[in-house]
Amino acid sequence: MKRKTIVTVTLNAAVDRTYYVPKHVKGTVMRVQNMKAIAGGKGNNVARVLRRLGHEQVIATGFSAGWNGQFLEADLNADGIEVDYVQVPGESRLCLNIMDEQDGSSTELLEPGPEISVSALERLQDKIRGYAETAGVIVLSGSIPPGLPQIVYRDLIQIAGAHGAKVLLDTSGEGLRNGLDAAPTFVKPNEDEVKLFQTGTNGEEIPLEDIVGTWLRQGVRHVAVTLGGQGALIGWNSRLYRLEIPPLQTMNTVGCGDAFTGGFAFGITRSWSAEECFKYAAAAGSANSLTPYAGDVRMHDVERLLPQIRLTKIG
Ligand SMILES: Nc1ncnc2c1ncn2[C@@H]1O[C@H](COP(=O)(O)OP(=O)(O)OP(=O)(O)O)[C@@H](O)[C@H]1O
Ligand SMILES: [Mg+2]
Repeated sequence: MKRKTIVTVTLNAAVDRTYYVPKHVKGTVMRVQNMKAIAGGKGNNVARVLRRLGHEQVIATGFSAGWNGQFLEADLNADGIEVDYVQVPGESRLCLNIMDEQDGSSTELLEPGPEISVSALERLQDKIRGYAETAGVIVLSGSIPPGLPQIVYRDLIQIAGAHGAKVLLDTSGEGLRNGLDAAPTFVKPNEDEVKLFQTGTNGEEIPLEDIVGTWLRQGVRHVAVTLGGQGALIGWNSRLYRLEIPPLQTMNTVGCGDAFTGGFAFGITRSWSAEECFKYAAAAGSANSLTPYAGDVRMHDVERLLPQIRLTKIG
């Protein structure tokens, strides 16, 4: 059986609303010149990237609430993404970004999102158990909302893995630490997120390379520590690689990590080699930096960037 479906899980889905004002001055009335609202949350960004890359079967799940939930589900649908969210009481969060058009600065207001109950989590676990029997890849991305335990990703990885799906994890803090215990197929912390693991028991700094090595030995198959414009440090098959990307005139780097994860999911669903998957991931990540919105990649950018990505064995 060919497992072609990719399921993205967003526990803390959002409406990402951007207001463009000529100049942001605290304590004044500002007229919004331009605005844009899209479905947000990291898993939803990954889903959007996958559709832009041309993947057909993409299902977005997680928790959705209230009018914001309806809005974000409709936005995903409009992008050709199948939506299967667990409905919860309250209101999905609104993440407001005020862009100052004069100096290009951005001011963000992020709501916490609704509190999630145990019974809602059980409903999501049931859905994921079902999808894990037929989907190729399940992507778990983003922060953990109020009400859920820090082991939520670890449990979801175990459920998904036990039913044959590959699991990609992109989260931070304790969610990542616990998630690693369940050995997902792929993890993608960035430079900041990996810092949590870099202090040894005697306060000494642990090199990135050692951390990647430890995770591989624990059973994680593919590791990417993404380094923004510096590419990434890659680990698979007991080996370390340096992933280099060309310098670019970037427009927005929010969501580059989601595009990287989306690119990797695209490749692994097609049984590409790890090398091809990582290169494609980097091309998608870099392509995201050339557009104004998270998860908005253009195919021609990906195709142009791909031959410029270098993967070199370093250990
Ligand atoms: N300034 C940049 N120029 C070119 N490519 C970039 C740049 N920033 C990011 N990328 C690409 O995107 C990938 C992921 O970037 P990054 O490490 O910034 O992810 P991230 O911090 O997890 O992002 P986010 O969490 O906002 O989605 C990089 O490996 C690279 O391929
Ligand atoms: Mg990230």
